[in-house]
Amino acid sequence: MELSKRMNAVVSMVKKCDTVADIGTDHGYVPVYIIKNGISKKAFACDVNKGPLEKAKTNISNYNCSDFIETRLGSGLSVIKPFEVDTAIIAGMGGMLVIDILKNSKDTVQSLKQLVLQPQLDIDKVRRYIHSIGFKIEDEEMLIDEGKYYTVINAVKGNEKYDRDIDYIFGKCLIDKKSDILKKYAEFMLNKTENIIKNLSENNSESAVNKKNELEIECKFYREVLECL
Ligand SMILES: C[S@@+](CC[C@H](N)C(=O)[O-])C[C@H]1O[C@@H](n2cnc3c(N)ncnc32)[C@H](O)[C@@H]1O
Repeated sequence: MELSKRMNAVVSMVKKCDTVADIGTDHGYVPVYIIKNGISKKAFACDVNKGPLEKAKTNISNYNCSDFIETRLGSGLSVIKPFEVDTAIIAGMGGMLVIDILKNSKDTVQSLKQLVLQPQLDIDKVRRYIHSIGFKIEDEEMLIDEGKYYTVINAVKGNEKYDRDIDYIFGKCLIDKKSDILKKYAEFMLNKTENIIKNLSENNSESAVNKKNELEIECKFYREVLECL
């Protein structure tokens, strides 16, 4: 089966293990790929909505994976007991929802060996949350799929803290490996933000001045990360 570039980046982060849970599985392609490619012996395809779970059930059956993938209906990791799985995947959701899912199932999270997360927004907050619960970020991948930027985080048990804000904002692993995609992203965002500041230059209203100051801080971070890449 062919996965999208984004989903391919997600599954390529999953370590070989006994059991995986895909939270918010939707179509169920991720667990099917994981089973078909021998990454895990067993998988749970989980979703809070019935419609997506039905879709996943059909795909699981069409790919002859019903003996190896169990579907579970419910929110987040509440459907997984502590020590039931080695790895949890949470992809394609907002960062604050990812954090809520992890916060709401602390015992299950503590029993995991690996977290593979692909938050769509608030990625800095997800990185900070990962560090606050005794996980460290082992690797990250940034990619462009159909014109959009995505980041995939692979976290494992361990203690770690970053010193610089840019490590949380852009990802220390991506900075350390001088990711071309991160460079492209920071250049694009710096250019875009500088243009917005230019367009606001004539406007001296309080809100415009506050906005300009906010955007200047953002530009400072883009320039700082670009110096490292
Ligand atoms: C945009 S899709 C992402 C699907 C897939 N993970 C991917 O990366 O392609 C989000 C899925 O998460 C499910 N979802 C949203 N909130 C959830 C929650 N709290 N617990 C479990 N699933 C959730 C939705 O029903 C939907 O199927």
